[in-house]
Amino acid sequence: MPQITFRKDGADTSEAVADNTNLVVRAGIRKFPWPHLRYGCGMGKCGKCASRILAGAEHLPEPNWKERQVLGEERLAEGCRLVCQLWLHHDLALTQDGVTPPPPVRATPILPPRG
Ligand code: FES
Repeated sequence: MPQITFRKDGADTSEAVADNTNLVVRAGIRKFPWPHLRYGCGMGKCGKCASRILAGAEHLPEPNWKERQVLGEERLAEGCRLVCQLWLHHDLALTQDGVTPPPPVRATPILPPRG
């Protein structure tokens, strides 16, 4: 079982979670890391779940296209990931301290405005 450590305001809380766990799904049913984790859509769109990985990043898959679009290469290079896009199989330590959520990605209109 992965051991997850969440740092908030400099204090660590830690809990073992089931294999293949998504932390936003857990927070949505009020399990650790609730109430500490900031999140929103759960679909890789809003960016509110952006977190900096402190340890265990080597076990995570490469960022998917949603993470690349929402976080951008600069935040990814700083070690940030969208937690809602991660299903965990290994120990992980993360924080949202000092991570400002990126602005939401706006959809580009396909059709011209009606006029
Ligand atoms: S919760 Fe909205 S991008 Fe992760």
